Amino acid sequence: MNLIKQLIIIDAQSDTPVYIQISNGFIQHIRQGRFKKGLKLPGSRKIATLLQVNRMTVVAALNELDAQGWIETLPRKGTFIKKILPLLTPGKITEETRVFTIADKTGFQYDEKRIIPIELSDFPPTDKLIFNDGFPDVRIAPTEQLIKTMRRLSKLAFQKKYLMYGGAQGTIMLRETLSAFLNETRGLPSSSENILITRGAQMGLYLAASIILKPGDVVIAGSPGYAAANLTFRQLGAKVIHLPVDDKGINIDTLEEICQRQKIKMVYVIPHHHNPTTVTLSSERRIRLLALAAKYKFAIIEDDYDYDFHYSSKPIMPMASLDRNGHVIYIGTFTKTLAPAIRFGFIVAPASFIRSATHLRKSIDTQGDSLMENAIAELYKDGTMARHIKKSVNLYRERRDHLCKLLQTELGKHLSFDIPAGGMSVWTKFHKADLSIVAQRALKNGLIIRNGKDYDTDKVKYNSVRLGFASLNFNEQEKAVRILKTCL
Ligand SMILES: Cc1ncc(COP(=O)(O)O)c(C=O)c1O
Repeated sequence: MNLIKQLIIIDAQSDTPVYIQISNGFIQHIRQGRFKKGLKLPGSRKIATLLQVNRMTVVAALNELDAQGWIETLPRKGTFIKKILPLLTPGKITEETRVFTIADKTGFQYDEKRIIPIELSDFPPTDKLIFNDGFPDVRIAPTEQLIKTMRRLSKLAFQKKYLMYGGAQGTIMLRETLSAFLNETRGLPSSSENILITRGAQMGLYLAASIILKPGDVVIAGSPGYAAANLTFRQLGAKVIHLPVDDKGINIDTLEEICQRQKIKMVYVIPHHHNPTTVTLSSERRIRLLALAAKYKFAIIEDDYDYDFHYSSKPIMPMASLDRNGHVIYIGTFTKTLAPAIRFGFIVAPASFIRSATHLRKSIDTQGDSLMENAIAELYKDGTMARHIKKSVNLYRERRDHLCKLLQTELGKHLSFDIPAGGMSVWTKFHKADLSIVAQRALKNGLIIRNGKDYDTDKVKYNSVRLGFASLNFNEQEKAVRILKTCL
């Protein structure tokens, strides 16, 4: 078997693993007829000695040859080169196959225009400053505690079942914990059967709107308003009518006039820190809106995405906490308290609605990340979330004040804004400078700021943008405002 020693050459410098070099060597010499069909090979120990490699490396090479069909091992007889070898001539690679890529278009017809395109952003670059739309500072997210808790839970025998299929509504542990939290913080008299855990508020909006709306139905939303929600409603075939939003929220007088004229199926409100203008819907308007819902039998989607971040006073009680007639579908999210990419949110609604929403959710997304749902529940129970929310609120309040002061002193003559009572951004109107030009100039100077076009509902050009303060520390805010100043 000196032949093996002569023919199989191992290159210690090669990037190819040694066992692959050995199996390739065998294949090459079987093909060229130097190792004959039916030849009995020595044992792995012997080959290892001949090639001066570890026996396990030879075993791996023989396994590879076996898997590819070049050798066979016969019980109590030994290992042989196969009499019938695998196909020796590979399929001809034509020019066509060499340049093959997936087709640009499907080979079948579908209505591409039915899907309304939405802005698909990538993760933010780390080499630029960003005035985002009002997102939390992920650098302070309690990810360590979350991961530690997940690790601890994953070791407990009774938690193993949460790695299996099941629980499309969300784990009972999270739903019970959340319902206690919502009762305590917002007076929301929910129980676990009134809650569906979703992947963020956006999934809640989609599920709720899909259940409520039929094509052609009329939805009322604020103007300026939250583009992603309006798009979801339009995607479902609804007609969206925009109502003006002033410093107390959506205009209820105008809503009543519309209700008198036509059938309204649903009203979409963002009660705290309306996106984009950051105003809070007043208590008086909340009560009037509930009364109108009872009178005209429409649904209210109450998207309270930003409830936890109110700085000047306590947040106002949700309409869902006062709703005795089942008109309000309450939507919340953990993406602002934890991090946008930790995708957990919830819907609170009458149990029958939650059952429908759970069935629908299951057909899009079998279930959530159940073990992580339990870990989040633990963070609520052991006080981590309460501490984190308190810390974030204090930090963001300071950051809001710092940015507002900077905007006033450095850029006061170019823009105007109201100090927001909560949320994570300042709704800023630029006076003369065209925001799209400012945004282009800022980008060249290392600052990302939106051009404001997303907020222009019904062709009204607001020339305004949300300047997110929560995710920028004082230094970063100062640098960003300096850049903005040079661009103006
Ligand atoms: C008003 C409003 N609703 C819903 C969402 C979506 O939140 P989530 O990331 O939880 O889906 C956002 C995101 O910023 C928002 O501003």
